Amino acid sequence: MSDTLAVATRGLSKKGFLDLEVDPELDLVAEINRLKKEKNAVILAHYYQESEIQDIADYIGDSLGLSQKAASTDADIIVFAGVHFMAETAKMLSPQKKVLLPDLKAGCSLADSCPPALFREFKKKYPDHVVVSYINCTAELKTLTDICCTSTNAVQIIESIPKDQPIIFAPDKNLGAYLKKKTGRDMILWNGACMVHEIFSYERIVKLRNRYPNAKFIAHPECEDHILAMADYIGSTTGLLKYTINDPATEFIVATEAGILHQMEKASPYKTFIAAPPENNCACNECPHMRLNTMEKLYLCMEHELPEVILPEWVIEHGRKSIDRMLEISAAAGLVG
Ligand code: 13P
Ligand code: SF4
Repeated sequence: MSDTLAVATRGLSKKGFLDLEVDPELDLVAEINRLKKEKNAVILAHYYQESEIQDIADYIGDSLGLSQKAASTDADIIVFAGVHFMAETAKMLSPQKKVLLPDLKAGCSLADSCPPALFREFKKKYPDHVVVSYINCTAELKTLTDICCTSTNAVQIIESIPKDQPIIFAPDKNLGAYLKKKTGRDMILWNGACMVHEIFSYERIVKLRNRYPNAKFIAHPECEDHILAMADYIGSTTGLLKYTINDPATEFIVATEAGILHQMEKASPYKTFIAAPPENNCACNECPHMRLNTMEKLYLCMEHELPEVILPEWVIEHGRKSIDRMLEISAAAGLVG
């Protein structure tokens, strides 16, 4: 979690959410819909949220789509059903709005793998380099970044930089390695990774592919190189979803957080989706941070308008430029998340 973050802690337990009892008889869907109207609030949800949260959201998308929505919404309150860096990005893009996150402890292992103080020192070794950071990083890291990117626009962002301009890419070494291959650019990579995308099992995926010989194997670029090498398609969560809609195959093995399967199944009810298995006994990978949000916490946070994400002025001022630049390049390339 960002060390620059100041949080409105009124009434919050140490747990990071409002630890209040919710009447089990309460119709949470009806209550959340009521609160949305009464407070002119919009719920933005990432594909990795539990299905019920996705179903009540006003907008479901990938990190780029969610940033674009956060920048353009006319709601008074943005309720972010996602993780910390996403809510921070929304706050930077719409600083005049109230941004709520149902559980402040919904962090991100990838963002945590790049502490701003260490990165500041690292950056000093490469004074002539431009810094491109994956949006999955802290607000403070964004203040040390020239251009942000997401998995939807990363190739276009790298290609927008003159060929003779050296680049540092942070924090995801797997996405960075994929981009080096895809763009032919020799970038300095920060050594960070996402815990969810790093534990896919090569052996278990090969076994699954043998069991479903007609299935397409699709993967998110946060996965490791040996997993990506097997993939029929590599893309962001929105890219993966679109691929399953447009491709004629009827079976897909999907290597990303399993929450995305909900939208895939809704969009193509007659197709079969199998979550790629991790290197443990589980059948699929779920992000422990994303899954901290629940319908009860969503309801409580809307009712009490807590926890709220608040950022220092200087973080908004310096961090926002890197996100604005990303949105400009994405708009020019016609990219929507
Ligand atoms: P996208 O939303 O860009 O597909 O990235 C996935 C992710 O890891 C979000 O935390
Ligand atoms: Fe972070 Fe990975 Fe979870 Fe996305 S899936 S929020 S990158 S830990």
